[in-house]
Amino acid sequence: MSILSGKNILLGITAGIAAYKSASLVRLFIKAGANVKVVMTPASKDFITPLTLSTLSKNSVHSSFTNEEDDNEVWNNHVELGLWADYFIIAPATANTMSKMANGVCDNLLLATYLSAKCPVYFAPAMDLDMYKHASTLASFKKLKSFNNIIIPATSGELASGLVGEGRMAEPEDIVSFLENDILNKLPLRNKKVLITAGPTYEAIDPVRFIGNHSSGKMGFELAKAAANLGAEVLLISGPTQQKVNHSLIQVVPVISAQEMYDAVHEYFKDVDIAILSAAVADYKPIKAATQKIKKNDTTLTLELTKTKDILASLGQIKTNQFLVGFALETNNEIENAKGKLKKKNLNLIVLNSLNDKGAGFKKETNKVTLIDNKENITEYALKSKTEVATDIFNQIIKQIHA
Ligand code: CTP
Repeated sequence: MSILSGKNILLGITAGIAAYKSASLVRLFIKAGANVKVVMTPASKDFITPLTLSTLSKNSVHSSFTNEEDDNEVWNNHVELGLWADYFIIAPATANTMSKMANGVCDNLLLATYLSAKCPVYFAPAMDLDMYKHASTLASFKKLKSFNNIIIPATSGELASGLVGEGRMAEPEDIVSFLENDILNKLPLRNKKVLITAGPTYEAIDPVRFIGNHSSGKMGFELAKAAANLGAEVLLISGPTQQKVNHSLIQVVPVISAQEMYDAVHEYFKDVDIAILSAAVADYKPIKAATQKIKKNDTTLTLELTKTKDILASLGQIKTNQFLVGFALETNNEIENAKGKLKKKNLNLIVLNSLNDKGAGFKKETNKVTLIDNKENITEYALKSKTEVATDIFNQIIKQIHA
């Protein structure tokens, strides 16, 4: 899955011959799962039609402050467009438009949108080689970079003039990968490895029966997605669950029993930066699983159980630089019990769920958590979706890592 999936991309098109490539660019953004809107300068319509772009982007395309088809009665809101965008890409960017951008000129809808946009702005210059090298163009680049706008450099090759040199707009595929890489490289968990445990464990009684619990795995899977969206490489060690995930940065390691989870976690732990143990690991397992199905011969059946290994506590004993996060599900004396676990298991952070909170816990879409760090700072959060809770947890982790 592309990092652009679900993102709002505003494509600005100016009047250069490379505008014919904008159709491919829109297609590639759509293919990456992005929502695309297009804003054009009036002159760029001589190079590519708004109809082509609106068909491909599945959105109407605007090039003036009012909507001509509605007798100029509908105002095209540049502020709204600018705020809608997660990323604004101006491709092709002509020398003329870049100079106007650099100097705050605002004589068309694209430029007004540029001045209103709060998101990162990328521009892909396209022009003839001498224009590209002109001191005035270089001054525009310098000024735009000082505004934190990001240049997608032109390449060398045959130009529309027939001359050969620098000034060709980067190819649409290269613009998309430039954008993807730039976004990934700026993510706060880029180059970090995160290990997450999720779901229940099943402890075999015999070949067909087990001791398990009601954990859905949802919280762990949401944590994995949040970490990957922040740029981390994620190892998701999960017990049996219905949850599915498809993300290039997430590797799922399926396990069944507490012992298998313990082994998998220990195989990977030394290489990770952050470990979050959200699995509902069985605390006890049958001393010995029967090799054959147990027959119902007697009126009662006694199972002898033994404690499983506490995976979280075992990591607390061996951790070096890893940031270790545990969960605590409590019914009474919650804060004190959670603080006790944090200390005993040598954690950096503990996520407390109270079973007294409505909407929190197993098989729910929502969760209500309190985070306690190893300096005993306590942060309480409202009832939220598990997706939002995962974001809150990572915001706290990132804050602590950079503290
Ligand atoms: N945990 C673990 N391995 C186990 C049991 C628990 O890694 N065998 C982890 C869970 O993933 C969770 C944390 O320990 O992050 C807290 O589990 P919890 O069951 O609430 O606490 P316990 O320490 O087992 O104490 P108790 O059940 O007595 O409350």
